[in-house]
Amino acid sequence: GRIWIEVGLLDSKLANGTVLIRGVAQTMRGVGKKMAFLVVRQFTATVQCVLTTDELVSTQMVKYATSLSRESIVDVEGVVTVPTEPIKGTTQQVEIQVRKLYCINRAVPNLPINIEDAARSEEEIKEAEKTGEKLVRVNQDTRLNNRVLDLRTPANQAIFRLQCSVENIFRDFLRSEDFVGIHTPKLIAGASEGGASVFKLDYKGQPACLAQSPQLYKQMVICAGFGRVFEVGPVFRAEDSYTHRHLCEFVGLDVEMEIKEHYFEVLDIVDRLFVTMFDYLNDKCKKLLDAINRQFPFKPLKYLRKTLRLTFEEGVKMLKEAGVEVDPFGDLNTEAERQLGRLVLEKYETEFYILHRYPLAVRPFYTMPCPDNPLYSNSFDVFIRGEEIISGAQRVNIADLLTSRAEACGIDVSTISAYVNSFRYGACPHGGFGVGLERVVMLFCGLSNIRQTSLFPRDPQRLVP
Ligand code: 4AD
Repeated sequence: GRIWIEVGLLDSKLANGTVLIRGVAQTMRGVGKKMAFLVVRQFTATVQCVLTTDELVSTQMVKYATSLSRESIVDVEGVVTVPTEPIKGTTQQVEIQVRKLYCINRAVPNLPINIEDAARSEEEIKEAEKTGEKLVRVNQDTRLNNRVLDLRTPANQAIFRLQCSVENIFRDFLRSEDFVGIHTPKLIAGASEGGASVFKLDYKGQPACLAQSPQLYKQMVICAGFGRVFEVGPVFRAEDSYTHRHLCEFVGLDVEMEIKEHYFEVLDIVDRLFVTMFDYLNDKCKKLLDAINRQFPFKPLKYLRKTLRLTFEEGVKMLKEAGVEVDPFGDLNTEAERQLGRLVLEKYETEFYILHRYPLAVRPFYTMPCPDNPLYSNSFDVFIRGEEIISGAQRVNIADLLTSRAEACGIDVSTISAYVNSFRYGACPHGGFGVGLERVVMLFCGLSNIRQTSLFPRDPQRLVP
């Protein structure tokens, strides 16, 4: 009988069987009047479909196949065969001998992006340029302006499937640890992470803004007695700087939990969550990683079974020994973070680690000072390949301390009184963290720009498409 099958699942076990596939016509090439080759792509996979004239395949059909416009949607019915020589340029090592071919929907003839060109690796582009092959380099703006087409490349298909897995593992792991999924409001009255970088708006005559993070509300839910919570939701930052790692809207993976004895309980969750995640991606998402690797070659992430924890002081010392001077009570800039990442990799053979006990002065007002030295704080950042993916901390759960910390940070406490008052009704010690989803995917795959891991990125210069 006929079976519909995904192109990526076509293999020699199906030899001589009749299959039906749906995909896009990637390339079509006629050989004389009696033969044509059609490469059909679906998701991350491609297969070669062969038309040879016989009682079912007419010369008109061969002509029809070669005249299809690229990226048109096609249904192909045919018999799976295993060629004697390996096939170049497709992911599947079997062919389909076409019996029937239907074009379901035609693409316009002149596409703004040629998917084959857009899917090439840097190495393949250089190779092609050397041999003088005609090929168009597709720059990032062109890609993003034509994102619907750009997203059709196998690497992009894989990136967003991988992203879905990251999100699912986040949920599944936390659910298995008794965390409750929540949704906090995104239309709120004031800043949650400090005054700059907020999108202001008019809320029926009242000044309002888009939430810079679920921070204050996830803590209020802890005050409401939820114990352990997580949220997956949009985060809005009116970033001024145009960088490879900042978006104006990103997906935040947030966690907040009661602390029983020590705030390292929060670090333990980070540790187990991410080791579980990386193991899963490496074991269960091999095909996706291969598809990304074909266009953007990268080395697998190095991480330890138990995540390395360094104090900020130790990090500053390592930098100093390597000749990099940084302010021991300031924040690390991007370059110092990268440098420290390289030093950590050399010394500890890991590209994933936690840096904790940050100077209090560089952390948000809600961060708990260290009990033994208030110049430091019970806070941490987490890095992949020398770039930040997480920041987190124990929070101040004493209303009066919170008020004075907010005032010291120049925050008008009257704008956050509901939040501050939540800590007057009995509030557990608690802590948590926030993860940037796009950054995790970008850095796990060694990609160079966060726009590659956002479907329709929002940056200081882009609001469409
Ligand atoms: O470091 P951030 O600003 O921390 C918070 O929002 C805290 N409320 C978290 C907490 O629970 N204490 O943001 C957390 C993470 C960063 O580590 C980074 O991965 C990501 O969110 N992030 C961004 N991702 C893309 N574009 C931006 N503009 C980002 N800003 C932060």
